[in-house]
Amino acid sequence: LRIVRTVAEMRAVSRGRVGLVPTMGAFHEGHISLMREARKESDLVVCSLFVNPTQFGPNEDFKRYPRNEDRDALMAEEAGVDILFAPSVDEMYNDSSAIVTVPGVSELWEGAQRPGHFDGVATVVCKLLNIASPDVAYFGLKDLQQCAVIRRMVKNLFMPVGLKFCPTLREADGVAMSSRNVYLSAADRSRAPLIHRELERCASIFRSRLTVEQTLKEITQSKAVLADNCFSVNYFALVDTDSMQPRDTPIKGDSIIVAARLGTTRLIDNIQIS
Ligand code: PAF
Repeated sequence: LRIVRTVAEMRAVSRGRVGLVPTMGAFHEGHISLMREARKESDLVVCSLFVNPTQFGPNEDFKRYPRNEDRDALMAEEAGVDILFAPSVDEMYNDSSAIVTVPGVSELWEGAQRPGHFDGVATVVCKLLNIASPDVAYFGLKDLQQCAVIRRMVKNLFMPVGLKFCPTLREADGVAMSSRNVYLSAADRSRAPLIHRELERCASIFRSRLTVEQTLKEITQSKAVLADNCFSVNYFALVDTDSMQPRDTPIKGDSIIVAARLGTTRLIDNIQIS
């Protein structure tokens, strides 16, 4: 595994069929599954490790976001990564004021709860794609709206890269793997599986044809179950998976998305209706 810190060096080493896995580090099996997927399909696997300050709000967890580059480097090497691109904030943002905004798909849900978040994500992903010039970039579907924003950015700006969105990895009890799960207290961790349970419950009902009232009733019930179990629900909603616009009644391919706070930890998850 080679660790690269500068844009110039990254550009110089990028060759053959390149697969890029953009990350903020603190690896878990979800990240590793993206690296393995990239390994299967690429000559050169590049994993970026960059805790991107511009996607965190002023009161969010940028400072305390888990960082352990040595451990991450070992895990990346084991997963078959060739290059770990780990630039400094200065290297990525020195003297830079250009911002990528993807209106519409960025505005609701996470975009409404975390103003500026998706500008930060789109801007850094655009930079990373321009630096590593991958043939394919790999993202996890756990961040469903992020996937929709990146898909729209790449399409609208004619960026010459393929995108692969990979399934969410879950713990045995259904909790979606996330670097932020380490923040959960033991009591909150034991409540966390309820999110996936409610998503599955709604998804199985939403496979049938439902009225607007029936759809709303199930969503309201899930919100109440979560609220009764100490969650503070930001949103629990049925959306069109591509545009992220809300939907009144479900159709196949739609997604149910949720964000809820347990203590000081904000969890997000989603499920697609099959
Ligand atoms: O999903 C993440 O870890 C980040 O949002 C990403 C895509 C690496 C951009 O910083």
